[in-house]
Amino acid sequence: MIDQNAPLASLELWEDDVISRYPEPDHKAKEDYRNYDTPERDTVREFYRLNHTYQTYDFVQEKKANFLAFDKKELPVWSAMEFLNTLVDDSDPDTDLDQLQHLLQTAEAIRADGHPDWFVLTGFLHDMGKVLCLFGEPQWAVVGDTFPVGCKHSDKIVYPEFFAANPDSYDERYNTKYGVYKPNCGLKNVDMSWGHDEYLYHITKDYLPEPALYMIRYHSFYSQHREHAYNHLLDDHDHEMFKWVNKFNPYDLYSKSPKPPVVSELKPYYEDLIAKYLPATIRL
Ligand SMILES: [Fe+2]
Ligand SMILES: [Fe+2]
Repeated sequence: MIDQNAPLASLELWEDDVISRYPEPDHKAKEDYRNYDTPERDTVREFYRLNHTYQTYDFVQEKKANFLAFDKKELPVWSAMEFLNTLVDDSDPDTDLDQLQHLLQTAEAIRADGHPDWFVLTGFLHDMGKVLCLFGEPQWAVVGDTFPVGCKHSDKIVYPEFFAANPDSYDERYNTKYGVYKPNCGLKNVDMSWGHDEYLYHITKDYLPEPALYMIRYHSFYSQHREHAYNHLLDDHDHEMFKWVNKFNPYDLYSKSPKPPVVSELKPYYEDLIAKYLPATIRL
């Protein structure tokens, strides 16, 4: 029986799936993405079935009303990271890195390439929104490719066939090309499916430079940053800012190294970076 709240044995399986869909340019995909059938692939499919069925326009408004009240917890950023790291899933302990290690590897790869410190900090923070899982949210409302709600679902979104079960697909307010939006109205006016990206954007929006906020908010919006499926909603400023989203994405997907970072060695550097940009505590 697949757990409806958590079909994936590990949140990482979603990311592994994204990597198999978008392999590193000089690494050829092992097999054709859609023909690669394994038990893990079945859980990923079930995960997307749930995500595409239940992420409706109304669902997003409900989650925003609940989580953007930030009345759950208040703690220092490093403690929020340790809190995130209590998220252990029943994945193979030999091959999987924990959340903090993924964040440190992403950030360290950005640092090694000589990018500005706020870019490094963004790499370190980008998945902190996954704490949503620890508030009891189902996986399909935390991770997964994100997409605009309130207008037609693009067939460039992974497993588009599952949108047939989404009530918005039959609602005339939401099922046209523009839906509730105006042509090229800009993403600031567009509601995205709910998950860790949108949540962390709202946590950090008063503190980080705008390119950092775009990277955080849209890093899972693969149907746009990889497939350009929603150019009709973006404005010129979004296109400018998506250059940063594109710059960020390879660090997220391809920075995995077999050698786990030593947290205690890196902590002072990241504590300084946090102190430079963020308040002493954040509210979740
Ligand atoms: Fe993420
Ligand atoms: Fe990530």
